[in-house]
Order: sequence, then structure tokens, then C-alpha cells
Amino acid sequence: MEWHLSFFLVFCFSFVFSFACDTITPTQSISDGQTIVSSFQSFELGFFSPGKSQNRYLGIWFKSSPESVVWVANRNNPIIDSTGVLSISKDGNLVLLNQIQSIIWSSNISGVAEDPVAQLLDSGNLVLRKNISVNSGSYLWQSFDYPSDTMLAGMKLGWNLTTGQQLYLTSWKSTDDPSPGNFTYNLDILGLPQLVIYKGSMKWSRTGPLNGIYVGATPNVANMVFNPIMVFNPDEMYYMYRPVSDNIVTLLKLNQSGSLERLIWNKNTAEWKVLYSMPYDTCDIYGRCGGNAICSVSKSPICNCLTGFVPK
Ligand SMILES: *[C@@H]1O[C@H](CO)[C@@H](O)[C@H](O)[C@H]1NC(C)=O
Ligand SMILES: *[C@@H]1O[C@H](CO)[C@@H](O)[C@H](O)[C@H]1NC(C)=O
Ligand SMILES: *[C@@H]1O[C@H](CO)[C@@H](O)[C@H](O)[C@H]1NC(C)=O
Ligand SMILES: *[C@@H]1O[C@H](CO)[C@@H](O)[C@H](O)[C@H]1NC(C)=O
Ligand SMILES: *[C@@H]1O[C@H](CO)[C@@H](O)[C@H](O)[C@H]1NC(C)=O
Repeated sequence: MEWHLSFFLVFCFSFVFSFACDTITPTQSISDGQTIVSSFQSFELGFFSPGKSQNRYLGIWFKSSPESVVWVANRNNPIIDSTGVLSISKDGNLVLLNQIQSIIWSSNISGVAEDPVAQLLDSGNLVLRKNISVNSGSYLWQSFDYPSDTMLAGMKLGWNLTTGQQLYLTSWKSTDDPSPGNFTYNLDILGLPQLVIYKGSMKWSRTGPLNGIYVGATPNVANMVFNPIMVFNPDEMYYMYRPVSDNIVTLLKLNQSGSLERLIWNKNTAEWKVLYSMPYDTCDIYGRCGGNAICSVSKSPICNCLTGFVPK
């Protein structure tokens, strides 16, 4: 851990007069082993190896919980050694290069900015903006537009209706492999808007219709932790949430077995606690009992026919 810390300090100190430690400029890059940290120390960006894997990925994690990776850039394209470098290319994009300078991952936008800077915000959002002195809050690119398996406060889940771009969560394949797994968490907007977990193209679990007060089957306890926000207008339709207070750190994670977990950070024990998860119970699994049947977790078997029907 010590080499890691000293790397970080060296990196920061050498730029302390002109730049913050949360920023990458065209003349600075981050090599494997170096990191940048958001201004209030909430998030860190750098290279990591998940689980037992030796592969290297560029990711963002909670500074106080480095195991909790919330975003991965090169999910599909690991670097096999520690020669990775994140920098800003001549055309103004954030690029991740390997030893032979080939592009492993890129923010891949057109429309070059003169002196672009990338900044890791305290929300966990990595943003690319025009220049160091202009911070209008509008970004050329942002990691929040490319979710991995984790929805942080302030992220959108839903649709840009102008472009048809959909923002949704995709599970990791396994603890050792962040490439896309079998499950996604989407805002379905055909019919009554619903948040649905899919397994491949099949509905796996619905989490209920949205009503602006709470999200369907979400247990009531949630409302003491976060406020759900639903936005439906001609330009976009999305779901978002904000914690009820600044002291609360919470996230939504779609895990590799298809469960959506609402986690809350316990500062005293320095651990994540699962507040609830979905499917909330086996009855939430989509089509668990088929048509004309009632699902009840407290009964055995859990599926019972509606009056007048017999089991198939
Ligand atoms: C960048 O985007 C273009 C068009 O969307 C795509 O064809 C290309 O493969 C992308 N390049 C990278 C490095 O992702
Ligand atoms: C940033 O952009 C503004 C407006 O375009 C310009 O006036 C300023 O000189 C730029 N600053 C730097 C450091 O490039
Ligand atoms: C994804 O689903 C397929 C088919 O059900 C299964 O064979 C595969 O093992 C699953 N992959 C993961 C990572 O669970
Ligand atoms: C939809 O995407 C376009 C292109 O990226 C962007 O200009 C526009 O602001 C987006 N709309 C909303 C409502 O975010
Ligand atoms: C996914 O979440 C469920 C519910 O919290 C939990 O039981 C399960 O162990 C988790 N799976 C993994 C692989 O973490």
C-alpha cells in the first residue's frame, strides 16, 4: 500500500500549484499505480485487478472502500500487464493506451476542445470538459452516461428520447470479470413505465410501476435513505435518486446473480449493509407461477391457482 500512497503524493505535489489532484490535463497522464482522487476524497480513479484476476482495468471506486468498484472503462478489453496509461489525446478524447500505444478504450467523441480537462467529481462522475477555467457544468463526455453495474446518486437510468440512447445497468460476468454478464436493469417505457431486471432478453423481475412517491415494490424503509426522482418529459424519461442527507452514502448494484442490491455505507463499521434486494422474494421473479396463479411466499408450494383453475 505504501508505494501506492507515495505515487499518489508525488503525482499531486508536482502539480499542486496549478492543478488539483482530481484532474487530468493534456500534459498529464495517469499510469498504472497512480490515481486521482475527487476533491472531497469520496472517489478514486485508477487501475485495478478484480478478484483473482491478473488483468488490469481502469475504474472508479469508493476511496474508503477500494473493493467497491462503481465504474469500469475497459470492461471488454482488459490490459494484460501494468503498462496502461490514461491520457488526453490530441483530438481531445480520454484514451486508455497499452504498452504498444494501441487504444484499449476511448471516450470516443467528436468535436475537439482546445484545452480539455478530465475531472473526477465527488459524485463519482468522471467528466471531460472544455478547459480548466471554464466550468459551466456542461460536459463533452461523462462516465455517468455509460453505467456499469452500479447506480450512484445523481445517475440517470432511462432514455434520451431525442437520440434513443438508453442508460441501463449491466451485471458483471463474475467477481473476477467485469465484462457484461447476463443481467440488465432497465426502465421499460412501453406501457406503464417500469423498472425491470432482464436476464438476456427475458424479463426476470419487475420492481413495480413508478408513481413518483416510491418505486413499486421497494420496501418503505427506502424512503428514510433516499428520495426517488422520476422525470418524464418530451426529451427524456428517467429514474434517479438522491440520499435524504449528505451523510448517507448509498448505491444500487445489479450483482452477477441478477439481484439488485440497495447498499448503504456504515461509517462506524466501514462496511456496506444490504438494505434490501430485489427480487424481494421469489414471487418477484417474473412469471414465477405462470398465468391464472397466485404467488405467495408464505405458502408451500408458493404457487396456487386462482379459483376455478387447476395446475398444469
Ligand atoms: C468510436 O465510435 C465509432 C462510431 O460510433 C465506432 O465506429 C468506433 O469503433 C469507436 N471507436 C472506439 C475506439 O471505441
Ligand atoms: C478557456 O476558455 C475560455 C473561453 O473560451 C477562454 O477565454 C480561456 O482563455 C480558456 N482558458 C484556458 C486555460 O484555455
Ligand atoms: C448466462 O446464461 C447462460 C444461459 O442461461 C449460462 O450458460 C451462462 O453460464 C450464464 N453466464 C453467467 C456469467 O452466469
Ligand atoms: C440527448 O442526447 C443528445 C446527444 O448526446 C444531447 O445533446 C441532449 O442534451 C440529450 N438530451 C437530454 C435531455 O439529456
Ligand atoms: C446478489 O445479491 C443477493 C441478494 O443480496 C445475494 O443473496 C447474493 O449472494 C448476491 N450474489 C453475489 C454473487 O454477490
